[in-house]
Amino acid sequence: MKLSGYRSAGLLLLVVIGCLSALAQSDVAPNAKLASKDLSLRVEALLKKMTLEEKIGQLMQYSVGNATGPNASNLKYDEMAAKGQVGSFLNVVGAEATNHYQHIAVEKSRLHIPILFGQDVIHGHRTTFPVPLAIAASFDPAVAELVARTGATEARADGLAWVFSPMVDIARDPRWGRIVESSGEDPYLGSAMARAWVKGYQQDDLSKSDSVAACVKHFAAYGAAIAGRDYNAVDMSEITLRQVYLEPYHAAVEAGAATLMSSFNSINGVPASANPFILTQVLRKEWGFDGFVVSDWGAVSELINHSIGDGPTVARRALEAGVDMDMEGNLYATVIAAQVRSGKIPEAVVDEAARRILRVKFALGLFDNPYTPVGPAYDATPERRAAARKVAQETFVLLKNDPVEGVGALLPLTSKAKKVALIGPLADNQRELLGAWAVTGDPKYVVTLRTALQERLGDRLLYAPGCDLLSGKDANVLKHVNFGGPMISDDQSAAPDDAKTIAEAVETAKKADVAILALGEPTNWMEGEASSRATLGFTGAQQQLLEAVVATGKPVVLVVLAGRPLELKWAAAHVAAILEAWSPGIEAGHAVADVLFGDVNPSGKLPSSFPRAVGQEPLYLAQLPTGRPAHGDLGHFPRNSAEKFVSRYMDEENSALFPFGWGLSYTRFSYAQPTVSRTEVPVGEVIGSGSKAVVTVGVDVKNTGSIAGTEVVQLYIRNTAASVEQPVRELKGFARVVLAPGEQKHVEFPLGFDELNFINTDMKRTVEPTAYKIWVGGSSLATAETGLQLVE
Ligand code: BGC
Repeated sequence: MKLSGYRSAGLLLLVVIGCLSALAQSDVAPNAKLASKDLSLRVEALLKKMTLEEKIGQLMQYSVGNATGPNASNLKYDEMAAKGQVGSFLNVVGAEATNHYQHIAVEKSRLHIPILFGQDVIHGHRTTFPVPLAIAASFDPAVAELVARTGATEARADGLAWVFSPMVDIARDPRWGRIVESSGEDPYLGSAMARAWVKGYQQDDLSKSDSVAACVKHFAAYGAAIAGRDYNAVDMSEITLRQVYLEPYHAAVEAGAATLMSSFNSINGVPASANPFILTQVLRKEWGFDGFVVSDWGAVSELINHSIGDGPTVARRALEAGVDMDMEGNLYATVIAAQVRSGKIPEAVVDEAARRILRVKFALGLFDNPYTPVGPAYDATPERRAAARKVAQETFVLLKNDPVEGVGALLPLTSKAKKVALIGPLADNQRELLGAWAVTGDPKYVVTLRTALQERLGDRLLYAPGCDLLSGKDANVLKHVNFGGPMISDDQSAAPDDAKTIAEAVETAKKADVAILALGEPTNWMEGEASSRATLGFTGAQQQLLEAVVATGKPVVLVVLAGRPLELKWAAAHVAAILEAWSPGIEAGHAVADVLFGDVNPSGKLPSSFPRAVGQEPLYLAQLPTGRPAHGDLGHFPRNSAEKFVSRYMDEENSALFPFGWGLSYTRFSYAQPTVSRTEVPVGEVIGSGSKAVVTVGVDVKNTGSIAGTEVVQLYIRNTAASVEQPVRELKGFARVVLAPGEQKHVEFPLGFDELNFINTDMKRTVEPTAYKIWVGGSSLATAETGLQLVE
């Protein structure tokens, strides 16, 4: 059978997962309605009637309740809505709550303009799915699309027509807590996921009653915060900005995203939320974006802290740069009108921002259908649970599965294990298994590992929590973690004694044939925003717990539950089997049990490199070459074997502990020699072919084991001689391939300008007459190689 890989120009998903529907391709620009003539006429007619204050009202977004930053105001929202002073609310959720304000705006305000309600719908709305980083590990855009579609439907039923998702920031440093919301380190994978999220939310038609407007965030390059410290400055070359960081936003805009969110960080000295280069030159002029831009929370007023002016100045700069809506900063409402009246800001600038916002409101159908019918209360139905379970199963990455003496490969667990000890602070913690950003998710729906294993094993399951997620030594962490309400008691005198609980866990392990350890970090307030870490180990006494259980000599399966790559060096050296399960959502326990017991063969791959030591960060595959490569470094020519004066650490290897694209299966796959349909292609043909393929890379992949499995076949390239140095290895194709035992399939990857181009020093995408190395395999360590020469 012949299969085609996933390509940016068009979704060629011949491998489709049973429950996930591939949506029909459309030739119409996905948000064509935003630019439609009819819509423009309605917007212009309305704009003509609006006073300056009413236009500025459209630029204002306020948060009612919940806060992810300082609340700028505690205002009289009913009165403001009646005066047309509210363009949007966030954190108003539910049909009744949203209808309350909508009735006021539509019935009492002079021009009856509906309010746009937005919300952080990050990994599901009421139904909580695995975190976005996990979803990227599926290497399956259809999974992202399904999660977005489910979230959109549930959000719309709650009166929300706008979701602050997807987060498409490239994240190459797991110290940065927001890596959990991202698709990881790679622009190719990140772009594929970005397109799928947008499609899932918007369905190529904003006016459908179950579509929501996506908000692509955080524009731009927020993920490159220096030292992984949240909100920190970003400083990088324009080539890297364009070739790596801007790619997924561009993909999302091309997919029709209706809105973007400007980020907190500065880029090369200019704050992103007052950055005309990013917001106007790139976004509007180069990419033709016709939606609107909202600032991040308070990001307009925080420009004062960036030291680029006082309140009126920064508001003007933000607005003129292209930030159309001020999220919870209350600055546009207080300082713009006077500057328009004094002639400092042309009224046309306000008109344009209001126009962009109104266009989205019209496109969403809010003027025609402003209210939300009150429906039945949410329930995690069997259908929703089935979707959550299926998605979670696809996201797990089997990092290691070594044979154990007398047992063979430890996973999958079978009747070999008569008694199973489940140990760890994440084994039975509903809230923490829900994941980092489930604002409207409810922990009560989470099936924990303990519950799921109990269902399977009955009294063959033994359980011990082992220790808390945080302990006394984390006193400083506790302060921050408890920001969202006390998760862990500050009073550590009342906390369980780690030594005692670890000793109990050891006794429990001794009574079992195998121990499953569920370890990680607190996901609720120690991952996501404002959750940077300077270390990447397990928190609290979990490492001691792990070492104590391993010391019993019992076979250990480590299930890692965290939304960022943790430092697993000790575990990788001492534990036979490691499953990365991220934060799996409401079906956590069932999905983990399905994989541990082999009902499901794991197929996830790492979207992010796992370090040996935190000091390697930022660590990622697509590094640029150096004149002094270390011996054996991936992608380098290993000719410099001198050990001292090369680019390396004295005390650690350069390579990742588990590299990008890594992930094992319970079966094995073999790769034949890949081939290219043509070995030479004229440069002019590549440039002239637009998004069409010019060559095809083909490879035969075989399941050589005895059970069925799914392999994510990956294609990597290296441009060996371009005028601007190119990464040592870059992902440029992937395909999920389902193989029965002994089955072989032929997989093809189309390559064309989209895959082969790079940004030259004129900031233009180009290809040159250069040679490409091409590898195909089951991870970024792929060795099966072919090549392609572009000629004059
Ligand atoms: C976050 C955004 C989020 C917004 C609204 C900000 O603090 O950075 O990602 O969408 O709050 O809650």
